[in-house]
Formats: sequence, C-alpha cells, structure tokens
Amino acid sequence: MQKAKIKKILKRKNKLPIVCLTAYTTNVAKIADKYCDIILVGDSLGMVLYGMKTTRSVKIDTMILHAKAVKEVVKSSLVVFDMPYKTYTNKFIAYKNAKMVIKLTKCDAIKLEGGSNIAKTVNYLVKKGIPVLGHVGLLPQTSNNFKVKGKSITERKRILNDSIAISNSGAFAIIIECVVERLAREITKSIPIPTIGIGASRYCDGQILVTEDLVGLSNFSPKFVKRYENLNKSIEKSIKNYTKDVKMKRFPFIKNVYK
Ligand code: KIV
Repeated sequence: MQKAKIKKILKRKNKLPIVCLTAYTTNVAKIADKYCDIILVGDSLGMVLYGMKTTRSVKIDTMILHAKAVKEVVKSSLVVFDMPYKTYTNKFIAYKNAKMVIKLTKCDAIKLEGGSNIAKTVNYLVKKGIPVLGHVGLLPQTSNNFKVKGKSITERKRILNDSIAISNSGAFAIIIECVVERLAREITKSIPIPTIGIGASRYCDGQILVTEDLVGLSNFSPKFVKRYENLNKSIEKSIKNYTKDVKMKRFPFIKNVYK
C-alpha cells in the first residue's frame, strides 16, 4: 500500500502537479485526504498550534500524538512524519527514532531537513526500508531568519548540490522551501525525483502549504502563501456574537434546551 502510493508519486514527475498540505488534527486531515496526494504532519505545528517561536522546541512525543491522530483518519493520502530537530543527528539515532515513530504512528514516510550533510543518513534509512522525503532550501530547524535562498551563485550551487545528494541517497521526493524561481527550476530539471515547492515557484512538480496559512488561521502570510479564507475573522465574529447572546440571555434559545 505504502509502496504503491510512493510509486504513484514518483510517476508524477513532470506530469500532473502533486498536491500536498500539512495536517496536525483529525478535522483537517479528513478534509485534506479528499484532495491531497501527500499530507505532512509538519513540525510547523510548534508555531501554528502551540505558539512556539521556532520549530526547534517541538518534541518527538508531541509529533507522535498528532501523527497518530492524523494517520488514523486518512484513507488515501501518503502521510509523512516530520522528524523534529535533533532527532536525526546521526544515522543510528535517526533509524532508532524513525523506526519508533513509524511503529507508533503507522505513518508512510518521514521527512528530514538538510542536504549533503544528511545524505548518508537518508541513504541508511532508505536501505533499512524507511521512505524519506527530503527538504532543502530554507531549513526552519537550523535557520535563524526567514530569508529567500539562492540569490547568490554560491548559494544556488550549494542548494543544487544538496538536492542532488538527497536524490542520489534514495529519497522519493524533495521539498524545496523559499528559493528563487530559477533555482527551483534548475533543481527540478536536474533530479529524477519529484520536487515539491513551498515558496519555490510553479516549476516544481508539486506544491505544499501549511493549511492554517492558506485558510487564514495563522498570522503568517509571506508572499508565497495564497490565502483562500480568513478563518481568524470568521471565528472572531462567531465568538463575538456568542458573547452578546450569552450576556443578553438570548442563548440558550428554546431549541437548545432539553425538556
Ligand atoms: O513543518 C512543516 O510544515 C514543513 C512545511 C513548511 C514544508 O516543513
């Protein structure tokens, strides 16, 4: 099942774009599963759900709770577990943790941030039977600022080499975060596995966004996010109206009362 899903994703290179979103909860996962090829239980949940400043504070146990809940309700999408900061510092630690999270959550694959520096780890995990989704470009776990990558020739070369290293290591796809368009295009042309962009242009083989950003539930709106809704506003409106109703004794209404 998991192998068939990954095979399907691989076949989408240069074809119909791969649709991906994050989900941390069952409510969002159930909806995303109707439309997405890949659902990522991202460590961005640290900021989006828990108000943390960076993803570096996210613990593996928190990720496991959310991933378990998501995986239980997802029927068709490939579910990817985002390995948190410092849980893959070498290939043996990475394997021990990845094996544990796959066993506990039943997720289909894991995601690791990094390039040539983690290539051996990726290769080790893949050889041990754990499918890996790569992540290059802006790396939230180790980057201190939110800045577009690949503006200089040196940086472009480094990120391209990182992508090639991850692809050669056996990853089934790679996320490219926040890079200039020409670099995303060059990476996509240079590697045989699908590229999934977040702030990395239409030249990628697929796209991913944080769901809470696209529905306007987070307060994060960089240029690369398209906001389809403003849930913050809708929730505030509902809470304001509820408050008025309670205070004016309009709620509960007759139909909300048990007789
Ligand atoms: O944690 C996350 O949600 C991610 C996406 C932004 C790709 O890594």
